[in-house]
Amino acid sequence: MNFDNIKKEFPIFTHHPDLVYLDSAATTQKPHSVIEAERYFYEHQNANVHRGIYGLAVEATQAYEGTREKARAFINAKKAKEIIFTSGTTEGVNLVAQSYALDRLNAGDNIIISAMEHHSNLIPWQQVCLKKQANLLVIPMNTEGVLDLNIFKHLLNHSTKIVAVTHISNTLGTINPIEDIIEIAHQKDVPVFIDAAQSAATQLIDVQALNADFMAFSGHKLFGPTGVGILYGKEELLNKMTPYKYGGEMIRDVTFEKTEFAGLPQKFEAGTPNIAGVAALGAAIDFVEKMGRVNMSNHIKMLLENATEKVLSIGGLEIIGTAKEKSGIISFIMTCPDTSGRGVHPHDIATILSEDNIAIRAGHHCTQPIMDFYEIAGTARASFSIYNSLEDIEKLVTSIQKVKKILSL
Ligand code: ALA
Repeated sequence: MNFDNIKKEFPIFTHHPDLVYLDSAATTQKPHSVIEAERYFYEHQNANVHRGIYGLAVEATQAYEGTREKARAFINAKKAKEIIFTSGTTEGVNLVAQSYALDRLNAGDNIIISAMEHHSNLIPWQQVCLKKQANLLVIPMNTEGVLDLNIFKHLLNHSTKIVAVTHISNTLGTINPIEDIIEIAHQKDVPVFIDAAQSAATQLIDVQALNADFMAFSGHKLFGPTGVGILYGKEELLNKMTPYKYGGEMIRDVTFEKTEFAGLPQKFEAGTPNIAGVAALGAAIDFVEKMGRVNMSNHIKMLLENATEKVLSIGGLEIIGTAKEKSGIISFIMTCPDTSGRGVHPHDIATILSEDNIAIRAGHHCTQPIMDFYEIAGTARASFSIYNSLEDIEKLVTSIQKVKKILSL
C-alpha cells in the first residue's frame, strides 16, 4: 500500500495545510472515519450501555460490545471478556498494579521493570512496592538503548511477582524482544505485563502466540480518540483479581453488608464508560486493519532510515537511542562546541521548528530515568506516522539547519 494521498483522510491537514506533524508518539492524528464514528454514536445511538432494555440502549450496547470483539480479534485474545476498556494505557497499568500486584506482594518481594519505562509503567509499580516494602528492580540497558537480558535472567527469582516492560520505548524508539522477555520470565513462572502504547498501531501483536499475561494500549496512539484504551489480561488471572474501582455496572448483588462483583469484563468497568470513545475506537481498529500494520511499519521504517541519515549528516547532533531494532522515533540533542560543549535546550529547538510549522516534542518525554542515564536534561524528539513523507523530513532537516544558524553553532 502506498500512503501518498493518506493526508486527505485526516481533516487536521485540511485545516493546517502546512503542518509537518512529527509528534505521533505523543498522539496520532485522527482519520475522518474515527471522527465520524464518534459523531454517529452521539447523533444516532446515544444511550447508556448494559442498563436499558429500550431499542436505543440495545444499539448503544451493541456498538460498545462490538468494539470489544474487534479489539479481541485485533490482538488475537482468546475471549472478548479478556478485553477491559480503560481510559488508556496508564489506567491499564494502574489496574494491574493495584488489583494484581498489590494483593500478591509481601515485604522483600520484587517487581521487575526496565530502564526505559515511561513514568506510567514505572510509578504504579514503584508505589505498590513502597507500600509493601518490596523492591523495584530494573533491567539495565546499554548506551544504544538495548536491554541486557542476561542481567534480567539474574534479577528474576522466586520473589518476583511480575515483570512489566514496554514493547517500544517512547523516547529511544527501541523495539524490545518481548517474546524473549516473556519466555525468560515464564521459565520462573512470573507473569509479564506489556506496555504496548507505542506499538499497538503498527506491530502485529498476537497475545496468544506471545503468551502475554497482561497488555495495555491507548486508543489515541492508534488513530482513535483520547480517553479510551484496552487492557488485555488472561482470563484465569483476571478472574482471580479484585477490582480497584467500585461503583455501578460492576456488581451482581449489593447489600449494606457486602457486594458480590460481576464477572468479566464488567468487574473492572465501574461507572458509565467512554461509550462514544469506545465506538470510535472500533472505527480506529478498522482503519488500522485497512491500512495494514505491516504496510504502516514498512513506511515508517523507510522514513526512519531516511531521517536518521539526513539528520546525522547535519553535524553537531547526537541521536539518543540507536538500537538496531527501532521504530519511527528519533530523539536527538545538539551541542554547542563554541560554548564549552553546553547542550542546546531542546525547547529552543522545538520553538524554532514550530516557527516552520514543524511539531516535535521536547523535554524528558515522561522518562526522567532515561535522561539521568544519558546525563542530559531532555531531547528533541521527532516521531513518524503514515501521514509523514520524505518531504516532511526535508523540511525537518532544513529547519534544524536553521536552528544551528540562529544559535550560531
Ligand atoms: N507518552 C507520550 C509521549 O511519549 C505522551 O509523548
